[in-house]
Amino acid sequence: MTRRSWIKKMLMAIAAVLCAWPVIGFIMPVRYRPPRKVLIREKLPKGSFLIEPEFVLFASETGPVAVSRTCTHLGCTVSFDETRKQFICPCHQSMFHWNGKYISGPAQKDLPRFEVKTSEDGKGYVVLI
Ligand code: FES
Repeated sequence: MTRRSWIKKMLMAIAAVLCAWPVIGFIMPVRYRPPRKVLIREKLPKGSFLIEPEFVLFASETGPVAVSRTCTHLGCTVSFDETRKQFICPCHQSMFHWNGKYISGPAQKDLPRFEVKTSEDGKGYVVLI
């Protein structure tokens, strides 16, 4: 094998891998990503809530509830209307109850909820997003 033919084969092999990469990415299952932990340093009084960039944490009667702020339609960040206790999407006006239940609009699905645990020192929460 000459050096020229070896280089040619190597370039063809690299080109084949680059062309196949999107197909391999489509076929392979989505990799598991461990949840990210967001620490809330203090407990909320019952009935109150805390608005974070990625979720709203509610201190409900049954315990803490973290509702995602990512709209299930096309992924816009929903706003929380404190007076009506509803999420409203600014993009296409989907509406959701405070607990993430779908009310109206093009979204059709509830807002996801995140797992909430008590922090290690017991003084706050850890939200797994
Ligand atoms: S992105 Fe929220 S309703 Fe369309």
